[in-house]
Amino acid sequence: MVQVLFVCLGNICRSPSAEAVMQSLVDDAGLSDRIRLDSAGTAAYHVGEPADRRMQQHAQRRGYDLTSRARQFEYADFDRFDYIIAQDNSNYHSLRQQDRTGKYTAKLYRMTDFARTVDEPEVPDPYYGGPQGFELVLDIL
Ligand code: 4NP
Repeated sequence: MVQVLFVCLGNICRSPSAEAVMQSLVDDAGLSDRIRLDSAGTAAYHVGEPADRRMQQHAQRRGYDLTSRARQFEYADFDRFDYIIAQDNSNYHSLRQQDRTGKYTAKLYRMTDFARTVDEPEVPDPYYGGPQGFELVLDIL
């Protein structure tokens, strides 16, 4: 089983969307018994909450159901997951800081490391912006 964790700040906008988009790709590829996905936030502000209503609505229009409940990234996740994928540079640096000894550096990625058709340095935080920010998140993912 390959285990993949998507990480953003609040775990209510970008990483639940990344998880839903990837789950759809995994399902389409018939790999759901080989690849397990999860998401988490570096911050605890929204722990236990469903995905942001705006993000849910934008995702729904593209056929993605966001069913997550927010949780905070915890140290044990470094061991549990094979790929830990940060949505922006701030999330990436926060994970690097928690990995004090650098033991897990090889598991850490930025979402845009995998981008082939968009030229963006990160998946930008949509939380305090307008609808176009949520659309951009989905375009990149
Ligand atoms: P996310 O978006 O990291 O993509 O889930 C955010 C959610 C909440 C906040 C910031 C970003 N916040 O400041 O509460």
